[in-house]
Order: sequence, then structure tokens, then C-alpha cells
Amino acid sequence: MKIAMIGTGYVGLVSGVCFSDFGHEVVCVDKDPAKIDRLRAGEVPIFEPGLEDLMAKNVKAGRLSFTLDLAEAVAGADAVFIAVGTPTRRGDGHADLTYVMSAAREIGAALTGYAVVVTKSTVPVGTNRKVAEAVAETAGDTPFDVASNPEFLREGAAIDDFMRPDRVVVGVESERAKKVMADIYRPLSLREFPVVYTNLESAEMIKYAANAFLATKITFINEIAALCERVGADVKAVSKGIGMDGRIGAKFLHAGPGYGGSCFPKDTKALARIGQEHAVPMQITETVIRVNEEIKHRMIAKIVDLCGGVLRDKVICVLGVTFKPNTDDMREAPSLTIVPALVGAGAKVRVVDPQGRHEGEALLPGVKWAENPYGAAQGADLIVLLTEWNEFRALDLQKLARKMAHPRMADLRNVYDRDEVLEAGFEAYEGVGR
Ligand SMILES: NC(=O)c1ccc[n+]([C@@H]2O[C@H](COP(=O)([O-])OP(=O)(O)OC[C@H]3O[C@@H](n4cnc5c(N)ncnc54)[C@H](O)[C@@H]3O)[C@@H](O)[C@H]2O)c1
Repeated sequence: MKIAMIGTGYVGLVSGVCFSDFGHEVVCVDKDPAKIDRLRAGEVPIFEPGLEDLMAKNVKAGRLSFTLDLAEAVAGADAVFIAVGTPTRRGDGHADLTYVMSAAREIGAALTGYAVVVTKSTVPVGTNRKVAEAVAETAGDTPFDVASNPEFLREGAAIDDFMRPDRVVVGVESERAKKVMADIYRPLSLREFPVVYTNLESAEMIKYAANAFLATKITFINEIAALCERVGADVKAVSKGIGMDGRIGAKFLHAGPGYGGSCFPKDTKALARIGQEHAVPMQITETVIRVNEEIKHRMIAKIVDLCGGVLRDKVICVLGVTFKPNTDDMREAPSLTIVPALVGAGAKVRVVDPQGRHEGEALLPGVKWAENPYGAAQGADLIVLLTEWNEFRALDLQKLARKMAHPRMADLRNVYDRDEVLEAGFEAYEGVGR
């Protein structure tokens, strides 16, 4: 199959590389010349484990290439995937479809024969029909179909998620388009990974419902964690105890500083907006959005308490600022709420993050970046473990305690146990929900 992939961000690049690894001929397009230059030079512009090697392998095999020229990529393609961003629109929480619609019009004008125009970006229910109209505006007599193929990969584990998905969802309304999609995903269906075919609206809704459900699950355990702190329960034991129930499942039950990232915040807001537009308020999702904000502020209060009520001139060492480990993505990370609050209250904040500095420098003004936790901890009053990178999971706690002026830890990911931290010489430890 010949595939054009429009947009080479986290989703487009991973999907394009993985499709080429399936044996398809893939041309990836981006409108950002710097990105295309780097990709052509064999550099991956994002941090995603395993991506650079897989990309190099498929470029070498002649199945994968990169271009700024959308028309060149679309000409002769069996399927054109739209994987551009759909950020939150300013003001109303709606998904901003500007990039999707402009890509659709460009694609229409570039079609040279029948192709399926597939939306991989997360888009509100009804968008694929609008994409069909936009493509038709410029496609003239060239026949095409649209398909919805939302993506469920997680940054940091994106290749494995793409290659071994729980399911692939395809919304499609013609047999011809279904056949193209089946051919594209045959390498997965042959290995018994399920491909769910449904209509366009259901496919679009599956993506929002899945993300809202997961955001709800995280927020639920975070709220339970707050109650655990008051009643003497340990949220880790509670998560384990409820997660063993097959109806609940153990995943997404880790208490922490609130969800962030490029998907949950914007997709929950967009779902709430879709509900309002159809006069069916998404009351649970709206509450989740509000509670998640409160959780981040509860973390700030925890830090203030640990510092004796005053942050001014306290030296605080923050470990991890990306929204989760194994990614350089800072979008909507809890750190973007928590760290500025500390800086704003007069704390001297030092940050260590294995991949976050590139993005984070502009987003977190007023902090000092350090190379490793031990350097950052020198003379510090508090360590805040905010993102559980592997590098922070086996810290030499005694060494840290010796370096700090006041060895105290806010472990917002529950990586450590209170007893081991205190035994290592810390004077205070706070986890989440324990
Ligand atoms: N990041 C994730 O983990 C994830 C997971 C599942 C779904 N999604 C969804 O996938 C979509 C893409 O997300 P992302 O994180 O990859 O976005 P991103 O911002 O990282 O990448 C989007 C890319 O599209 C390019 N682009 C925009 N308009 C273009 C055009 N007309 N022609 C060519 N290139 C164009 C941009 O330059 C950018 O490189 C979003 O809808 C998102 O919600 C993301």
C-alpha cells in the first residue's frame, strides 16, 4: 500500500514509521521545514524510545521518506492519513480543527485517483463528515472515501502500542474504503490484534469516551488518595485491593499530582464541549476536569506545608517536569502549574529532567536547570519528585540527605516508602494518599 502521512508529530511520525515497518510505502509530510530537514538527516525531532532505529531501518529499506510537499506525497497514495494537531481552541474548550480542515482541502486538491482520507487526529464527533466536505471542495471529480482511525498510542511506549494494540478502531462507510483499511492493518489482524469496524461517529466517540474514562479513573483514585490521607488508609494498598477486581482492573490507579499531557486535558475539555453543544452535559467529565485542577493545587499546599508554611528563599529541587517519564512532552504537565506557583512564592527552584529541558526552559522561567539530582540537592530544603523517570526510582537517599540543608521529600508519585526515606536521614516525607 502507498500511504501519505500528513503531520509528523508524536502520532504521525510513529504511525508513519510503523506503517513502513509493516512493509507499506510511506511518505511523511510536515509543513515545518526544520522538522523535515532533521528527519531527512536521520534525526528524530521528538524523544520516543526506539523510534530513531526503526526509522533508520525503514529509510534504508527505501520504504520511508519525508517531504514538505503534500501534493507529491498524496499523488498516487492509496490512503492519506491526517495526523495534525487538534489543540484546545482558546476560549471555549472546543478542539481547534483549523489544521485538520486546511490539510483536508490541500489533500483534495492533490488527489490523483481514488484514495481513502483517514483522520488519525483526535476530532469531535461529526468531523469526518466535515473532512469529507472539505476534501470534496477541492477534489473535483476524483473519487475518495473518508475513514476515522483514532490513535491510542501512549508517548514513551508509542512503538509497542502501535505494533501491539489492544484494538484498532476504524470508522468507515464503504466496502472499498474498508478493504483499503483492512489491507493497511493486515500485519496486525494476521497476528490476531482486533480491528473494530464501525461507523464514523462511533469511531470518533470511542476515542473521546476512552480518554475521558481513563482521565476519570486517574482522578477517582486521586480523590480517594486525598481521603486516605485523612482517615489513615494507604492509597497504594487501596489501589491494589480494588485493582485486583477484574471489573475494575489495576491500570490507571496510581495516585499522583493529576493527569496532564497532550491528550487527556484537551480531550476531556472537548468532550465536555461536545456534550454542551448537544444539550447532553457530560457532568462526570466536567467534574473530572475541575477536580484534576484542584489536585494540582493540593500538591502545592503539600509542598508549602513541608516547607513549614513559607516558600520564600527555600531551595526546592524538582525531579521531573515532563508530564510523564520517557517523553520530552511538556504539554499540560502538572509541573506547569506547580513549579510556577513555587517560583511565584519566592522559592529558588532547581529542576532535573532527563529530556524536559529543551521544551521546559521556555515554559518554566525563573528556575535553574541541573544535570543530576545530587548536584541539585546541594543545600536544598526540599526534594519534590514530580515525574517518575527511572533515573529517580533508585536514588541514593543517604547521599541526598547528606547534601541537603533540610532533607525533606514530597514524593508526588509514591516511588518511595516513608520508612526507607526517614531511615536514610530525611527529616520529613510526604507521599500522595498515604
Ligand atoms: N500525542 C499523543 O500521545 C496522541 C495520542 C493519540 C492521539 N493523539 C492525537 O493525534 C493528533 C496529533 O497529535 P500529536 O501529538 O502528534 O501532534 P503534534 O503537535 O506533535 O504534531 C502535529 C504535526 O502536524 C504538523 N502539521 C500541521 N498542519 C499540517 C499540514 N497542513 N501539513 C503538514 N503538516 C502539518 C505540525 O507541523 C506538527 O509537526 C492530535 O489530534 C492528538 O490529539 C495524540
